[in-house]
Amino acid sequence: MNDKKFYITTPIYYPSGKLHIGHAYCTVATDAMARYKRLSGYDVMFLTGTDEHGQKIEDKAKEAGVTPQQFVDNIVAAPGGVLDLWKLMNISYDRFIRTTDDYHVAAIQKIFKQMYDNGDIYKGSYKGKYCKPCESFWTESQLVDGKCPDCGREVVDAEEEAYFFRASKYADRVRDLLLNTDFLEPRSRVNEMVNNFIDCEGGLQDLCVSRTSFTWGVPVDFDPGHVVYVWLDALFNYMTALGYQNEKYNDVEKFWPADVHFVGKEIVRFHSIYWPAFLMSLNLPLPKKVYGHGWLMLDGGKMGKSTGNVVDPYLLAERYGVDALRFFLLRTFPFGSDGNFTNELLIQTINVDLANDLGNLVSRTTAMVEKYFGGTLPESSGADGTEAAFADSIARVGKGSAAVMSSSTGEFIWTSDLELICEAAGLRRTYEDQMEQFQFQNALDAVFKVVQRANKYIDENAPWALAKDMEANGPRLAHVLYNLLETVRICTVLLTPFMPESCERIFAQIGAGAEARTWDSAARWGVLPAGVSVAKGENLFPRIDMNKELAELEKLQEEAQKAALPAIEIEPQLEEKVDFDTFCKSDFRAVKVKDCQNVKKSDKLLKFTLDDGTGVDRQILSGIAKWYKPEELVGKTLVAIVNLPPRKMMGQESQGMLISAVHTERGEECLHLLMVDDAIPAGAKLC
Ligand code: ME8
Repeated sequence: MNDKKFYITTPIYYPSGKLHIGHAYCTVATDAMARYKRLSGYDVMFLTGTDEHGQKIEDKAKEAGVTPQQFVDNIVAAPGGVLDLWKLMNISYDRFIRTTDDYHVAAIQKIFKQMYDNGDIYKGSYKGKYCKPCESFWTESQLVDGKCPDCGREVVDAEEEAYFFRASKYADRVRDLLLNTDFLEPRSRVNEMVNNFIDCEGGLQDLCVSRTSFTWGVPVDFDPGHVVYVWLDALFNYMTALGYQNEKYNDVEKFWPADVHFVGKEIVRFHSIYWPAFLMSLNLPLPKKVYGHGWLMLDGGKMGKSTGNVVDPYLLAERYGVDALRFFLLRTFPFGSDGNFTNELLIQTINVDLANDLGNLVSRTTAMVEKYFGGTLPESSGADGTEAAFADSIARVGKGSAAVMSSSTGEFIWTSDLELICEAAGLRRTYEDQMEQFQFQNALDAVFKVVQRANKYIDENAPWALAKDMEANGPRLAHVLYNLLETVRICTVLLTPFMPESCERIFAQIGAGAEARTWDSAARWGVLPAGVSVAKGENLFPRIDMNKELAELEKLQEEAQKAALPAIEIEPQLEEKVDFDTFCKSDFRAVKVKDCQNVKKSDKLLKFTLDDGTGVDRQILSGIAKWYKPEELVGKTLVAIVNLPPRKMMGQESQGMLISAVHTERGEECLHLLMVDDAIPAGAKLC
């Protein structure tokens, strides 16, 4: 039995709209961590899911004219929904929980009752401020400029009978947990939590944990009319999904406490204060760690489904491949800090790291093995005993001391070989160290330093020059290429958690079998067989033409954003009434267009010469050049209001106004001139 176990979770997502790349960020990070742990021999439980209750969902369902259950089903399981997105992003979760699952609902009822029975939940009356989008209650003193401190939006007054959780009772223990252990990381988030929520004026407040003003939630079974507060319901998913208070699963003993909860920084408060307090109330072990990652920003603001400034992962994955997108997210932004997403940064990362550095290294190396050795290196090409022993000591004890040990053997090793082997064999240690701290960017940085070192090794050893005299230099050339393949192999093993599919393809190209893809093999040198055969494949990461691509991408993203806007929007009708006599004073007439011209120096105005039945031409100017060409209007019968006082526009007089229909379509203003039957004579009164 494997006693190395690892339980990792993502936040469970609100299925209140389309997921965006900000959501994918946390899940991709969790996936990379889970894959890394599996690679290094752990029995992993990776949990994700959806958080489906609460007023926000109830409101949205009502708006959409469906039941809340239909609404969430549609976002979770329908094509393009949450499950689809995780499939697309190659997320290797082991379990998916929906908080509407029966077993979870029943477990939450038991948990609530247990906390009520032990006196930590009591009935009272809630009076304060409520942020609907965040489903959060706030006291006056917690508001920032009178607004929700999490999202900055308006809060509303709320008062109702409610159950409360005695959070205040656990304030000292939670403070101690935050200040004196590594429970919450990055440590920079600790003071904010302690100062703002525990050591604030009035101390840690008891938390309102039931609602009566809506029904879409887990019912409190001993008090009809109350539903459990969505955060209590949601946080316990981490335990019910293992089988806590239910029969569906039986993994609590094996996997609880969780090793780490990855969460976005705005929900650190729930995970680092209330979640441990709930668990303390039930005498349950606490998770080992909560890690609060930063936000993906767009144009300086948080990318968010309620603000609409989102980037669609489907669009990017389709254009650049899922692996490039996964890689970009973890390579570019330090996990604990915010990062500003730009298309330019994405393309640059793909071009520099994947196309230039990694892609080039793999294609140059395999191409040279094919060109100079017909695809199979000679048996003599492999690592010699000294090199393998050297690598072994580096992998075990680190670079500094290993170099001394190797020189003591007195064996001669090529300088550039020694450096390359040293970098490659030492890589796993640095990588592991960074991965254990969730520093994905640094782990990848270490891998790419070795990739760059290998590219330099090609230039240093100039295989094309060696190939000029195969008889004299053939064995050396074979060894150089072997060293390159080994370096690619080690880097690829360590890149697998980030780019699983591309790494499979690289392994196939460099002839790495199962034994050369393991965690163990990443700390050894000389694992590929000496007579290894390569199979040069298609280009792994094609280079992208930055300018051309940026223009195309911008256009596509604009179109996608437009498509997400409402199809048709019309202005609401005016509330204010106009009396009949006033209305009758407006003189509407049928008018025939005798001539129509653009107005000089104006890109908006058209000048109409109209027959209004009086025998004298009427001139009207109208700002409709965006929608009509002058020539297409000549001869048409339109409707004008003719008793408006004349107005000057661009120095010309306009005697009235043409009537048109206006609406908005996918965010774009649309206009249609009102045209009437040509049988209606010019000047006919419309009433
Ligand atoms: O918070 N950058 O759900 P959610 C990085 N249901 N991360 C982002 C992001 C961005 N631009 N936008 C969102 C919830 N996220 C709760 C969780 S857990 C018991 C309940 C992250 O769908 C966000 O920080 O609003 C959060 O961690 C996750 O996506 C889910 O957000």
